[in-house]
Amino acid sequence: MSEACGDFGALFRAYPKEKRYALAILLDLQNRYNHIPKPALKELAAYLEVRVSHLYRMATFYRALSLEPKGRRVIKICDGTACHLRGTPALLDGIRRAVGVGPGETSADRRWSLETVNCLGACALAPVMVVDGVYYPKVRTEEVGAILRNIEDSGDPIEETGETGETGKT
Ligand code: FES
Repeated sequence: MSEACGDFGALFRAYPKEKRYALAILLDLQNRYNHIPKPALKELAAYLEVRVSHLYRMATFYRALSLEPKGRRVIKICDGTACHLRGTPALLDGIRRAVGVGPGETSADRRWSLETVNCLGACALAPVMVVDGVYYPKVRTEEVGAILRNIEDSGDPIEETGETGETGKT
């Protein structure tokens, strides 16, 4: 089967049927569904005429992609050298105390996911936190709980627009 005929076909058809668009389509799926639904992998493989295993490898390699539903808001904490030295470990402890998630985890109520990321290219602002694409510079552990409460009180998440410079999970 080479035509997308399932639930995800409309999204796929925004792109040419070429393997090189796989990542862009996976990112669209991630943005729309907050994860990559497993049936979408099969449908996309049929659409692009590639193996499901190829798409699975992409979905598990890139940090921006997840096969499991993420929280409504995603907290990204830089753990590059500058940020690590200026407090990332303490910041992660503060976030766990504030919203109950550790790196790589999603809260049971699916409000929050927490990820550590590589250098975001803003080392002068270390330690850096990014929530819903908004950068929070020089975050202090004692203020992170209040920041997250304010974010939660502010309504719906803002669509992420910033590039994070992430290249992979390893
Ligand atoms: S190490 Fe965190 S922004 Fe560079």
